[in-house]
Amino acid sequence: METKITPIKFFIAMVIFCFCVITSGSNAQEKMQSATLYNRLGGYDAIAAVTDDFLMKLISEPSLTKFFVGFSEDSKMRIRQHIVEFICQSTGGPCYYTGKDIKTMHKGLGISEIEWGIAANDLKEILDKYKVGKEEQDELLSEISTLKPDIVEK
Ligand code: HEM
Repeated sequence: METKITPIKFFIAMVIFCFCVITSGSNAQEKMQSATLYNRLGGYDAIAAVTDDFLMKLISEPSLTKFFVGFSEDSKMRIRQHIVEFICQSTGGPCYYTGKDIKTMHKGLGISEIEWGIAANDLKEILDKYKVGKEEQDELLSEISTLKPDIVEK
């Protein structure tokens, strides 16, 4: 028996097809919206790359370099690793921060409000370089700004 594709059958098939495409799209969008900041930043490798650049920038920044004088390469790598863990954990990633609390780590360094501003600006520049979306940048920067009272001493 021959099955003919009549205009009405074709129309119904197109309606079903469009419905499937639209609903599958909105599911994907829902999944994206419920993804953690860690996922939306690009996961561990992306956070590690941003941290490497951030630390390099802090160390070479004329007004901040004094804070890192006397650290061996190994000590700098430990700081780097702890920052990666910290950001990974605080953005919902599968890491556990194994360092001391942030206040203890920065106690006595005498970091000023101005120096904090320079570091925050450096981080923003790096996020721009890696083309991190505005929403993700704002979320990360607001998460990090909660550390300000523990880091800034004058
Ligand atoms: C003006 C800004 C900052 C400066 C100058 C600075 C400087 C430093 C220095 C010198 C240390 C080493 C302390 C030590 O081992 O005795 C350190 C440790 C640390 N910093 Fe910062 N910091 C700044 C901002 C931040 C921010 C925004 C974060 C958050 C992501 C952060 C996360 C950490 C962590 C997790 C450690 C611990 C590393 C470890 O356990 O060895 N710092 N910081």
